[in-house]
Amino acid sequence: MHKPHSLRPPSTTSKKTRTILWATGLILVATVWFCRHLVHTSWTLAALRVIWRTNSADFVLSDAHDAFDITFANYSREQLSADPYDDAVPPILHHIALGKHGDHWRGEWEETVQSCLDWHPGWESHLWTDDTASKFVAERFPDLKGLWDGYRYPVERIDALRYMVLYEYGGVILDMDLKCKRALGPLRRFSFVAPEAHPTGFSIGFMMASKHNSFVGDIVRNLTVYDKQWLGLPYPTVMFSTGCHFASVIHAYQSNRTSLKILPGPMHSLNGRVSTPIFDHLGSSSWHSYDAQLIVSLGSKTNLLFFLSVGIALALFLRRRWIRRRL
Ligand SMILES: *[C@@H]1O[C@H](CO)[C@@H](O)[C@H](O)[C@H]1NC(C)=O
Ligand SMILES: *[C@@H]1O[C@H](CO)[C@@H](O)[C@H](O)[C@H]1NC(C)=O
Ligand SMILES: *[C@@H]1O[C@H](CO)[C@@H](O)[C@H](O)[C@H]1NC(C)=O
Repeated sequence: MHKPHSLRPPSTTSKKTRTILWATGLILVATVWFCRHLVHTSWTLAALRVIWRTNSADFVLSDAHDAFDITFANYSREQLSADPYDDAVPPILHHIALGKHGDHWRGEWEETVQSCLDWHPGWESHLWTDDTASKFVAERFPDLKGLWDGYRYPVERIDALRYMVLYEYGGVILDMDLKCKRALGPLRRFSFVAPEAHPTGFSIGFMMASKHNSFVGDIVRNLTVYDKQWLGLPYPTVMFSTGCHFASVIHAYQSNRTSLKILPGPMHSLNGRVSTPIFDHLGSSSWHSYDAQLIVSLGSKTNLLFFLSVGIALALFLRRRWIRRRL
C-alpha cells in the first residue's frame, strides 16, 4: 500500500523544512562562534600554501635585494663573521640530542657534529641532552614546562626546544645529521636565517637568529596556541603543533618579514640526502633528524583507517535515514 502524501499539505512541509534550515544555520553559526579560536588557528595552517610567497622578494635572500651571494662562492670558507657588516647572530652552536638514543649519538654523529665545531674555532657550543634541556626549560620557560613535558611525540619536544634555545641564547641550531662544509660567518649579518623547504615554508633543522629575536619569541609564545592533536594523527600533529609548518605560519603572519631571511630552494633545501653550498645533509632515518618519511608512512596508515571509519559511519548513518524514510 502506498502512503497518501497528499494528506500533508505542501505548505506545512516547506514551513518545517524552513525551520530545520534556520535551526541548522543557527547551530552552525553558534558552533563557529564558540570554536572561533580553533577555526582561526586551523585557517592559518590551511592558508600557508597561499600566503607564504606574499612579498617573497623581501625575505628570500638574493644578490639583487641583499647583495648576498647565495652560492657562497664569493666568501672564504673560513669566514667567521659578517665583516664588513655587523654581526647580528652571536657565535654559538647548538645541537640537540634528546631521547633514549641521547647517550649513543657519538657513534653515529661524531663526524657531522665535529665538522661544524671544527669550522667554527672559538665559538661557544652546546649539546642539549635530556638533563640539561629539562633544567633549561624549567628555569627559563617555567610556564611552558608542563606543555613541554606533556608532548606526546619526542620530536615535538626537540622542535619546541629549538625555538626556546634559539630565543634565549641566539646562535645557530643544527640538526645532528648536518655536516658543515664551511663557516657560517657571512650569514651572521641577518637577524634570522633558515633554508627554504619544499613545497612551502622553511626547514627548522638549520636556523640562525639573534638573541631574543622577536620573531622567534612569537614562535615560542604560539606553542601553546597550536598545541593540538591535529586530526588525531601523528604527522599533522607534529607538523602543525611544533614543526616546520607551524613555524612557517608564524613567519607568514609577521607584519614585516624583511629581516627574517630564507635561503632559497632548491639550492639550499635540506630535503633528503643532499649537498648544498653550506651542508652535506645525511638525511638518514634518524630519530632526531626530521624524519618525515617515517611519520608520513605512519600518518598515511592511520589516515586510511580514519577515512575508512568515517566512510563506514557515514554509510551506516545514511542507510538508517533511508530506511526510516521508507517506513
Ligand atoms: C661575487 O663576485 C663577482 C666577481 O667575482 C661579482 O661580480 C659579484 O657581484 C659578487 N657578488 C656578490 C653578491 O658580492
Ligand atoms: C602568536 O601569538 C601572538 C600572541 O602572543 C599573537 O598576537 C599572534 O597573532 C600569534 N600568531 C599567529 C600566527 O597566530
Ligand atoms: C620592514 O623592516 C625593514 C628593516 O628590517 C625596513 O627597512 C622597512 O622599511 C620595513 N617595512 C615596513 C613596511 O615597515
